[in-house]
Amino acid sequence: MAGIQDNDTWSGRFSEPVAELVKRYTASVDFDRKLALFDIRGSLAHAEMLATCSIISPQDLQDIRRGLAQIEAEVVSGDFVWSLDLEDVHLNIEKRLTTLVGDAGKRLHTGRSRNDQVATDVRLYLRDAIDQLLELIQALQAALVELAQHHIHTIMPGFTHLQVAQPVSFAHHLMAYFEMLKRDHERLQDCRKRVNRLPLGSAALAGTSYPIRRELVADLLGFEAVCENSLDAVSDRDFAIEFTAAAALIMTHLSRFSEELILWMSPRFGFIDIADRFCTGSSIMPQKKNPDVPELVRGKTGRVNGHLVALLTLMKGQPLAYNKDNQEDKEPLFDTVETLVQTLRIYADMVAGIRVKPDAMRAAALQGYATATDLADYLVKKGLPFRDAHEAVALAVRYAEQKGCDLSDIALPELQQFSTQIGDDVYQVLSLEGSLAARDHIGGVAPPQVQAALSRARSWLQGT
Ligand code: ARG
Repeated sequence: MAGIQDNDTWSGRFSEPVAELVKRYTASVDFDRKLALFDIRGSLAHAEMLATCSIISPQDLQDIRRGLAQIEAEVVSGDFVWSLDLEDVHLNIEKRLTTLVGDAGKRLHTGRSRNDQVATDVRLYLRDAIDQLLELIQALQAALVELAQHHIHTIMPGFTHLQVAQPVSFAHHLMAYFEMLKRDHERLQDCRKRVNRLPLGSAALAGTSYPIRRELVADLLGFEAVCENSLDAVSDRDFAIEFTAAAALIMTHLSRFSEELILWMSPRFGFIDIADRFCTGSSIMPQKKNPDVPELVRGKTGRVNGHLVALLTLMKGQPLAYNKDNQEDKEPLFDTVETLVQTLRIYADMVAGIRVKPDAMRAAALQGYATATDLADYLVKKGLPFRDAHEAVALAVRYAEQKGCDLSDIALPELQQFSTQIGDDVYQVLSLEGSLAARDHIGGVAPPQVQAALSRARSWLQGT
């Protein structure tokens, strides 16, 4: 009888073999072999359940275990021979198993289809990936906390519209990224719950007529529960889309951070230096030190955003249940995971190696009238309505600009032209330190508040 065993036609149902070009077009083994170890894990659980339910014999189970153990060793050592003729990872492994253990190998696919098999494999893969990413996010957060700890009093300009706005501390600025990453961490944890459901047992689309026990397989594979509708289980990839959306947000956060590192490192800012190992030189301009890593992170964000759109588009026109379109979910998903793993890893190391230049930050904060809002608030506290205070300070800033000095360089009698309410105590308010200290509430930039934020961050890192 013809079949996958003779690598020629699918079955007696077919009268001619698949055309060579078509074989190449439809095969996925070149990329889905990445799922091999998850496929084996899933098969072991399935076989164990089949034996428990007396659908296969104890001897079959033993043979399957022995065969899969050998295949696992071959995959790990790189000795496994992958064949394009066998289309995908599932058929490659099944064929090898049958070669190794005979009929028991042919019985493994009882009550199962590649449709529920591949959905299970992808979920196992993604669950592992998420667990790894959760740790990597926290390692980066730990690096941020470590760097921030030294810079609670390092003052730099805070920007809006990339114009100097108000003074902030470098620590406070870094901790903004900690918060973003904390939400990213939460998002992945939440996504993991929906990834961690077992499709196996749904078979091709409608379930199976064998007396299977899906809960047992779910238990063996560490899934929280089974997918409760067979059509949905084999066909939807929303869990992968959701993951990729969370990944795109992580990359977006790191892309914004990268943009800042690039700006800060440019000699015009000169706020920081990135360790040489993250930069490259120019083949023509000897003076150059280019921030290649942050630039690539910014660039790779486009790639992950693209994967998200690819997966959404892949899904949108598919009728229930499984369609071969779904085979196209793997490359975007794998590439998203790999891009993220590498990016987070490199980022933690890069943040740890940032050298801060506090003098340049301070000099920049002193330009651009960063404490103008403080002067307005000061006048409000003296009884002026805020809009009047705003106008008085605007005129003072204009005056300082004409003189080419900072607000704090203007003598008291001159300042009093703008409001008679201004007294000697104004100079404390106009200082960078005074501006920081005044914002003394949760989420504010006052050093004790940032210190408290750092302690909260540390206990969160320890507690999760
Ligand atoms: N390689 C396939 C995929 O990735 C496995 C499922 C194939 N199922 C099918 N009915 N052709 O989706």
